[in-house]
Amino acid sequence: MGLCCWVFWFGFILFCASNEVVFSDQDGFLSLSCGGTTSFVDSSNITWVADSDYVSTGDSATVNYVEGMSSSQVRVRFFPDSPSRKCYRLPVKNVSSSVLVRAQFVYKNYDGLSKPPTFSVSLGTAISTTINLANTDPWTEEFVWLVDKDILPLCLQSIPDAGFPVISTLEVRPLPESAYRTGLGDFPNKFLRKSYRINCGYINGSLRYPLDQYDRIWDADQDFLPFHISSGFKIQRTFNLSSVEETPPAAVLQTARVLARKEVLTYNLPLDTLGDYYIILYFAGILPVSPSFNMLINGDVVQSNYTVKSSEVSALFITRKGIKSLNITMKSIRFYPQINAIEVYEIVDIPSESSSTTVSALQVIQQSTGLDLGWQDDPCSPTPWDHIGCEGNFVTSLELSDITLRSISPTFGDLLDLKKLDLHNTSLAGEIQNLGSLQRLEKLNLSFNQLTSFGFDLEDLISLQTLDLQNNSLQGIVPDSLGELKELHLLNLENNNLQGTLPESLNRESLEVRTSGNLCLSFSLLTCNGVSNNPSIEAPQVTIFTRKKKHDVHNHLAIILGAFGGALLALFIISVSVFLYTRRKKTEATYTARAETEMRNWNAAKFFSYKEIKAATNNFKEVIGRGSFGSVYLGKLPDGKLVAVKVRFDKSQLGADSFINEVSLLSQICHQNLVSLEGFCHESKQQILVYEYLPGRSLADNLYGASSKRVTLSWVRRLKIAVDAAKGLDYLHNGSDPRIIHRDVKSSNILMDIEMNAKVCDFGLSKQVTQADATHVTTVVKGTAGYLDPEYYTTQQLTEKSDVYSFGVVLLELICGREPLRHTGTPDSFNLVLWAKPYLQAGVFEIVDENLKGTFDAESMRKTAFIASRSVERDASRRPTIAEVLGELKEAYNIQLSYLASTGDI
Ligand SMILES: *[C@@H]1O[C@H](CO)[C@@H](O)[C@H](O)[C@H]1NC(C)=O
Ligand SMILES: *[C@@H]1O[C@H](CO)[C@@H](O)[C@H](O)[C@H]1NC(C)=O
Ligand SMILES: *[C@@H]1O[C@H](CO)[C@@H](O)[C@H](O)[C@H]1NC(C)=O
Ligand SMILES: *[C@@H]1O[C@H](CO)[C@@H](O)[C@H](O)[C@H]1NC(C)=O
Ligand SMILES: *[C@@H]1O[C@H](CO)[C@@H](O)[C@H](O)[C@H]1NC(C)=O
Ligand SMILES: *[C@@H]1O[C@H](CO)[C@@H](O)[C@H](O)[C@H]1NC(C)=O
Ligand SMILES: *[C@@H]1O[C@H](CO)[C@@H](O)[C@H](O)[C@H]1NC(C)=O
Ligand SMILES: *[C@@H]1O[C@H](CO)[C@@H](O)[C@H](O)[C@H]1NC(C)=O
Repeated sequence: MGLCCWVFWFGFILFCASNEVVFSDQDGFLSLSCGGTTSFVDSSNITWVADSDYVSTGDSATVNYVEGMSSSQVRVRFFPDSPSRKCYRLPVKNVSSSVLVRAQFVYKNYDGLSKPPTFSVSLGTAISTTINLANTDPWTEEFVWLVDKDILPLCLQSIPDAGFPVISTLEVRPLPESAYRTGLGDFPNKFLRKSYRINCGYINGSLRYPLDQYDRIWDADQDFLPFHISSGFKIQRTFNLSSVEETPPAAVLQTARVLARKEVLTYNLPLDTLGDYYIILYFAGILPVSPSFNMLINGDVVQSNYTVKSSEVSALFITRKGIKSLNITMKSIRFYPQINAIEVYEIVDIPSESSSTTVSALQVIQQSTGLDLGWQDDPCSPTPWDHIGCEGNFVTSLELSDITLRSISPTFGDLLDLKKLDLHNTSLAGEIQNLGSLQRLEKLNLSFNQLTSFGFDLEDLISLQTLDLQNNSLQGIVPDSLGELKELHLLNLENNNLQGTLPESLNRESLEVRTSGNLCLSFSLLTCNGVSNNPSIEAPQVTIFTRKKKHDVHNHLAIILGAFGGALLALFIISVSVFLYTRRKKTEATYTARAETEMRNWNAAKFFSYKEIKAATNNFKEVIGRGSFGSVYLGKLPDGKLVAVKVRFDKSQLGADSFINEVSLLSQICHQNLVSLEGFCHESKQQILVYEYLPGRSLADNLYGASSKRVTLSWVRRLKIAVDAAKGLDYLHNGSDPRIIHRDVKSSNILMDIEMNAKVCDFGLSKQVTQADATHVTTVVKGTAGYLDPEYYTTQQLTEKSDVYSFGVVLLELICGREPLRHTGTPDSFNLVLWAKPYLQAGVFEIVDENLKGTFDAESMRKTAFIASRSVERDASRRPTIAEVLGELKEAYNIQLSYLASTGDI
């Protein structure tokens, strides 16, 4: 029995030109000729363009090859250099609908080496597949991706010793909004990878655009055995093609595989991998009869007595989990089993993205290093970035060594999932800081730096097991609090300048403490040879008074008792302690009293008692702000004047001297664009500053707050605010004596009075610039993420230019109407400076706040954009001074005023 006996020619393939719908609209199509240099239109009338705008690396080549009867010449792009992934960043416009992405990989011995490469391809955070061009060349991959961002990264990643990744074409095609989602549960955590798309019953090549408006490529049927029948019919005009959203074009539906006898029609489709699959079976009622059949997938009935109704298009959507081959079988009930088209997709999981806080923290860190670490897209998926380790989508380890960081910036504290942090040999100096939030940290390596102080953060690292501080410049004694780290089993303090007894709490079996290479460091003072006893005795005394917790006192007494024995000595020490303690208490009291009288004599700032503060704030009832320093409360003075009362947390308190200094300094500052200090309270461990209250809320509130509470800020109003704030800063930098660097310029520190005049507030972190430290170096980086001057961050050279940088960020906020760091959209846009600067430098105003469109004078905007982008230059010496910024802003403001006058808006 020959093949023909199975074949029943039901009719002839009828092609009726008038019946074919041809689409000529390529709206939303992106067709990249990878490595190409010119645009061209192919035989399907598709316009191909060069890929250089979408990828930044790689070399190109031309391949000539013969395929069947025809010879082709194609361009390819290959990626010879580093092992990191190479990404095309594909723009996709319609967020929340699907796109079809098709990539073709061609080797064809373009390099003459006859070594076809193997590499992997990823889409977004998902590794989709491994391309082995030794098996199939060319190799085509197709995906259906539900768009959730406006950029889709498609990346090629080399495999060690497996050749250079190479790609020839890349296409993006928009699909109807909810296509390919029927019966698929948890999109968008999945995407589809095409296995088969069969134009059943058609044997003469493949069909695509313009016959299919979405440019799906429908393959001919003949490859799939057993071969039954090909049949062609007219799709009647009465057909309702739109009843199935992803319906194949009429050209595909008008052919079908039909079995004449009451028999079984089967497709056996091998699958690449064991996995979950999505199967769509299309039926069109092209026969004069309505056949019914049972539909079986791998032997299971998925639909019994399925009927194809005449002149109707219908589809079955089926998902099958954990299969590695596909047997589609139709068993006839009435008339002849029939099928018009089949699509089979593998359902691929998309790993979750890492937390956006983590991503932006890492980007800020990358920016601060001044190096291009190649950190793009997601840190964990599809493969972790260099220097980073992940568990799932959590960043659990970070190793940055042999580069220059200089300080542990606050951003490290955002990497909450870290278990391992290695910053050895990164020129860290000063205090160990900003790590207190890393409660999961198990291994911390800060060796080979110039750290001088333990700081207060280590005691909070409750999971810490290994702490390596060898080869630093740590001074003084080892703090008791390290003993509270119960999990610690290795503490390396070798080669520092430490001395004194080690806390007894570290003397336990489970913990190895390495101490060699210090001045004199051990658990027993007696083992310290050649070092005078005096400093060792003094050391514990000093620590007794710096203790924060009571039991530490006992610990220390115990050490001393143990070391020297004898109750007499203990008595002596206790009495000395008591004496010193009461003396200290007294000193503090007299100091405060003295300050009080001094303060009373200052005419600018009033001295308040704690009682008065409590009364004014109605016992700290209404919080109007919070910051790292503490909280701000609304208060009302007896004379009815409203005030903002800033209460410092314990931790952020200054020494009494510094506090008095600061108050004295602040009370002398008087400028219309600076929030003035009304008074202060320094009593019973409280450090409270009382400021004038500004009812107009902060610039940040007005830009981003709840819409009911904010004022709409027109461009002219924004410029006025910018001018006001710049005046305030100019006074701090150039008008006051001593000069003051604000250190925390940000939109939430610019407040508005009732008439919307802006005033700069919060000099809590201010730093006076004295003669002695005119080029000041400080070890503690303060400020707010998103506003931090990257140069200050790395060099710790604090100058006025750091304020200019932060103010530049505020200007960008005014222009773009968005926050400096955001955690939505594409990673490219997380950081306002990185995102906006290229546009503004190029004079492109696409990114201007939507609310401002059409209301500003272009020259006014250009001037502001230009000065803003200069202010955020990485190199501080290229930034303007605040006086220059003020000058430019005044001009921009005047230009906008005349523009409004000319348009009659004013
Ligand atoms: C975006 O989607 C809308 C609605 O689904 C559609 O009308 C529009 O044509 C689409 N635009 C593009 C470029 O695909
Ligand atoms: C080819 O496409 C262009 C638009 O891209 C269209 O104007 C033209 O009519 C199309 N030609 C054919 C033959 O379809
Ligand atoms: C197959 O398609 C070619 C053009 O692509 C056409 O010339 C030929 O007639 C077709 N063959 C049949 C059997 O339709
Ligand atoms: C085609 O089918 C869709 C969905 O079933 C329906 O909404 C639409 O009205 C139909 N159109 C015609 C012309 O019957
Ligand atoms: C496919 O299914 C049909 C019907 O269940 C069965 O007869 C046939 O053996 C199956 N083929 C394969 C290769 O599993
Ligand atoms: C199949 O369905 C049709 C209508 O949909 C019905 O008339 C027929 O009796 C059914 N046949 C069987 C065997 O269930
Ligand atoms: C520290 O890093 C520098 C490069 O920044 C390198 O030259 C030096 O060898 C490193 N030192 C150690 C001890 O690893
Ligand atoms: C910390 O880093 C240094 C330098 O690479 C290394 O010698 C040391 O073993 C590391 N410490 C731990 C505990 O791994």
